Amino acid sequence: MKPKLILTFDDLQEKAVRHPPGRLIVVAGPGTGKTQVIIQRIIHLIEAEGVDPSSILALTFSRRAVREMREKVALGLSRSFSEIKISTFPSFCLDFVKHNFRALGYRVAPELLTSTEQWRLVRGVVNSVDRHRYPHTGNFFARDGFIQELFDFILRSQENLLLPEDLARKIPHHSQPQLSEMVALYRRYLSQLKEDNLIDFGGLSFQTVKLLSQDEETRRRYQEMYSHIVVDEFQ
Ligand SMILES: Nc1ncnc2c1ncn2[C@@H]1O[C@H](COP(=O)(O)OP(=O)(O)OP(=O)(O)O)[C@@H](O)[C@H]1O
Ligand SMILES: [Mg+2]
Repeated sequence: MKPKLILTFDDLQEKAVRHPPGRLIVVAGPGTGKTQVIIQRIIHLIEAEGVDPSSILALTFSRRAVREMREKVALGLSRSFSEIKISTFPSFCLDFVKHNFRALGYRVAPELLTSTEQWRLVRGVVNSVDRHRYPHTGNFFARDGFIQELFDFILRSQENLLLPEDLARKIPHHSQPQLSEMVALYRRYLSQLKEDNLIDFGGLSFQTVKLLSQDEETRRRYQEMYSHIVVDEFQ
């Protein structure tokens, strides 16, 4: 059965919608119809290719985008399928961590920290250390912007999949003493998280990427679970 088209697509959009299995990256300017292509591709896969809806994974950034995608996909299908997995990145990763916590080295599934709790924890770490042991940053501890700086530093490091030990290797203490003190604070922050069995937003994607790239068995399981993965707003 020919899928019901919501819009008349141009040739390039149509080509992306019907792309055979394999990798495809769509690069196009803002508002040019990328999200529509993804929506139509999901509809096409199910209606025209007979793909099992539960083996499609769609990832996007905001909850609003998830809602829009769900609604529009449902509109284009001849019947509704609740089993299509459409999630935000953090929600997919949280699910992943909850299902794979043992392989990730947790005894019990970790609890997710909200941003406010995370902020409090960062501040707690800064307040708990002896600032005299941090001769290059200690004087800034009480300064307003310092917690924010450390918070951002931690998030950026996690986004780049860098643990304190990776950073310590890259940053020679003698040339960048301030930065290596930030790394030491980051390390304390992570051990506090571990001690309290918590995970933060940065940790969610970090742990997911880590396990999927390092553990072949888990990777194979997810590859078998999802035959088609579509990602909106990849960045
Ligand atoms: N072939 C088309 N014909 C008519 N309207 C279209 C077509 N493709 C997309 N549109 C409309 O253009 C608008 C932008 O589309 P869409 O949201 O898919 O773009 P986008 O590239 O994902 O944008 P952004 O960069 O903001 O995420 C929407 O209103 C959509 O319905
Ligand atoms: Mg879009």
